[in-house]
Amino acid sequence: MSIRQIKPKIFSVGTIDWDRRIFDELIPLPDGTSYNSYLIEGSEKTALIDTVDPTKIDELLKNLSSLDVDKIDYVIANHAEQDHSGGLPFVLDKFPMAKVVTNAKCKNLLMIHLHIPEDKFIEIGDNDTISLGDKTLQFIMTPWVHWPETMTTYIPEDKILFTCDFFGSHLATSDMYVEDKGAVYIGAKRYYAEIMMPFRKTVANNVKKIENLDIKIIAPSHGPLYNEPKFIIDAYKDWTSDDVKNEVIIPYVSMHGSTQILVDRLVEMLIDSGIYVKPFNIPYTDTGELAMALVDAATVVVGTPTVLAGAHPAAVYATFLFNALRPKTRFVSIIGSFGWGGRAVEQLAGLLTNVKPEIIEPVIVKGCPDGDAFKKLERLANEIIKRHNGLTSN
Ligand code: FEO
Repeated sequence: MSIRQIKPKIFSVGTIDWDRRIFDELIPLPDGTSYNSYLIEGSEKTALIDTVDPTKIDELLKNLSSLDVDKIDYVIANHAEQDHSGGLPFVLDKFPMAKVVTNAKCKNLLMIHLHIPEDKFIEIGDNDTISLGDKTLQFIMTPWVHWPETMTTYIPEDKILFTCDFFGSHLATSDMYVEDKGAVYIGAKRYYAEIMMPFRKTVANNVKKIENLDIKIIAPSHGPLYNEPKFIIDAYKDWTSDDVKNEVIIPYVSMHGSTQILVDRLVEMLIDSGIYVKPFNIPYTDTGELAMALVDAATVVVGTPTVLAGAHPAAVYATFLFNALRPKTRFVSIIGSFGWGGRAVEQLAGLLTNVKPEIIEPVIVKGCPDGDAFKKLERLANEIIKRHNGLTSN
């Protein structure tokens, strides 16, 4: 049981999932997660903000019984994804008088995913409010802080902003508020990179929008709450800005060592010139780490051998993911080796449909790299160094 009082009549009643290790069958969760749900007891009405993953519904219902909650008037759905809404049908069964309060897009998604009948909904729009008596719920549309329907809920009397995925971190911790800033920063950056980075500009606008509010506490639906909102708001401003850092990310795969030699040499040359470099050996890489590294880097160099007449499938996966995550990367190149031919470069470059970085001339060598290959690699390193002139690592 994990009930925590945030303020008088405002409780965190969600659950911690210490053991979960993957999300959406895509996102690694090395530190588990939590599904935060919040009970707001106004002088006239009671509201629950978001529910929990359906696997944890028993814990949420138990938490509500422990607080002797015998009536819920409104369940606020900030986001329709099932880790927050999956418990909703169970809550509606237990509290049949409750109405689901959300926007039109979220309503439609909840109807198709969870088969909640239309008459259970109260539809609200941007900046609409609902009174609980002595507390007000104000709804602010913040689209694409994962899905297009996402919104946040603000209580002006208590200056708390409930943001669901926005500002969240996949981090199972018994801390109610951020204590370990380093761990939360990493957890939140990972999550931003994995689900929000493709919508960077819209997320930046959402940050501006909520900044107009007087916020003392940000209460996301994953990870600990922020009682210093500036910490996470500043981090989001940095991640969503147009600035790139003096960093080169090298996702690569090597079968028999030739591409590895190229990667090692390039890493060495870039380090010597003061650039922060991070190679990711794709078959052994946590994709969350790679996504996070892509948030700031000015340059990405993909390393691939030629196999089955083309790019290695692991390099294809990394490039596909790069394109899907749409980082602000300005420069891209490809390095690798081949034995007798293939179309690795065309295949990988052809995957870049969402992003339009400048492509710096690739270095593709025949067989095991030698002096001539290293000269070409040096040219590539110099082209990168030239473009990074003036960038900083922090
Ligand atoms: Fe935590 Fe998009 O769900």
